[in-house]
Formats: sequence, C-alpha cells, structure tokens
Amino acid sequence: MNENLINKENLPKHIAVIMDGNGRWAKQKGKLRIFGHENGAKAVRETIETAARLGVKNLTLYAFSTENWNRPKLEVDTLMKLLVSALKKEVKTLLDNNIRLNAIGNLDALPEQAQQELMEVMAKSKDNDHMTVTLALSYGSREEIKNAVVQLATKVKNNIISPDDIDETIINNHLYTHDLPDVDLLIRTSGECRISNFLLWQIAYAELYFTDVLWPDFRKDHLIEAILNYQNRERRFGKTSEQLN
Ligand code: IPE
Ligand code: IPE
Ligand code: MG
Repeated sequence: MNENLINKENLPKHIAVIMDGNGRWAKQKGKLRIFGHENGAKAVRETIETAARLGVKNLTLYAFSTENWNRPKLEVDTLMKLLVSALKKEVKTLLDNNIRLNAIGNLDALPEQAQQELMEVMAKSKDNDHMTVTLALSYGSREEIKNAVVQLATKVKNNIISPDDIDETIINNHLYTHDLPDVDLLIRTSGECRISNFLLWQIAYAELYFTDVLWPDFRKDHLIEAILNYQNRERRFGKTSEQLN
C-alpha cells in the first residue's frame, strides 16, 4: 500500500479505532486470550507512528470499555498490567514524536498504578502538539453522555445557565472529548460491525470502516488502506452531491 497515494490535503482530522479481535487471534493460534492482548502492542505502536508521520492530528484508541469490567478477573488484571507496561515502554516514542497523551473514560475506576502511570505520561507530554493520542479506558459513551446531562442539570439548578443556553456546543463541551474535533474516520478491526458504546455523539457524521483483520495483525498498510478508502468517499453532510461540486 503506497503512502504517497494519500492526499495530505484531505486527511481525517480525527481517527478513532476500536481495536478488536485479540482473543480470536490468540485462539486461532491455540493460545490463551491474554496472549492476544500481549501481541496487540505492536499494532498500537505502528498505528500511532504511521498516523503521526502522515500528519493526522488526533487518534483515539478504544482500549477498555465500561462493559469490559465484566470479563474474567484474570483477563481484566492482565489488561491493566499491560496498560502500565505499555505506558512505561512507549513514553519515549510519544515524546520523540512530539505526541500528547490524553485519556477519556472513568479513569478513577482504574487501578492506582495505572492511574499514576497515565498521569505521569500525560503530564510529561502535555505541551506536545504534533498529534494527540487519546486512550479510551473504562470508557462508555452512554456514561459519558449521562455525566454531561448531570453536569448541565446541576448548572441549571444552580442558576449558572438557563435551559435556553443548552445547545450542541454546550453539550459537546461537557463530554470527555470536549477538546477534540468530531471523529472523521472510525475503524473497527476483527469483522464485527458494531459500535459497542464508543463515541456515540462524536461519530454522528464519521465515515465507518470495518476490516476483518484482527487487531494484533493490524499494520501500517491497513491504516493507509483505511485512509485511502476514506478519501474516496463523498461526505455530503445532508447536502446533495451537486451542491458540493
Ligand atoms: C479487543 O479484543 C481488546 C479488548 C476489548 C480489551 P477482544 O479481547 O475483544 O478480542 P475478541 O473480540 O474476543 O477476539
Ligand atoms: C469493544 O470491544 C471494546 C474495545 C475494543 C476496547 P469488545 O470486544 O468489548 O466489544 P463487543 O462486546 O464484542 O461488542
Ligand atoms: Mg472483542
């Protein structure tokens, strides 16, 4: 897949990825699901490096959902340990590439060590401005929207705002993603064609791209293929094709 085919003038400003299929990847190899998670790290690194090199400004990775807490304890514990080791290992890559690390979700629910490591890398990288990588951790879109509604209702109750002030911009400003643009391209690996409670508000007009590749096999060429596919689409935002041309 040729990187030079990508039109740098028409890059998605925000790519979000549902990194799915680790368990099936491991199972295909006769291994435990955990083996699949351990082997997802290379795909993460290559996706971040490629997106940064191309000039994509925002990349959001779905790493752990609110629903994933219901998995077997051993799997949850392993995922949290892998998060800590990945952060320790990848901090240099982030800093070398001028990348800011951000996180969304109910971060308080994460184990203490994971929270600490996350805060440390976020603090170290806070002034980096080439790209923002956002990790969605203990993230659920419905919970995010519920929290925004509670905050807005409280502001109305305390006379800080009036119900008439509530518009799409204000709602957006109360989401975890308040400082990110809307998602342009959403990629999901592993052949599942669903959203699984990810960025419901933010993907209102995103282009959706589903691939059968399992996450541990996802490489630079797969990302380029997804971006080229995106660039061949006509985004009409409700208008007619004729109006756009
Ligand atoms: C994605 O892979 C990783 C997480 C959800 C944490 P899965 O673990 O969901 O793998 P499959 O879908 O069972 O193959
Ligand atoms: C979505 O994958 C969550 C992440 C990739 C972190 P799941 O594997 O948990 O989604 P479902 O349960 O199959 O919809
Ligand atoms: Mg899955």
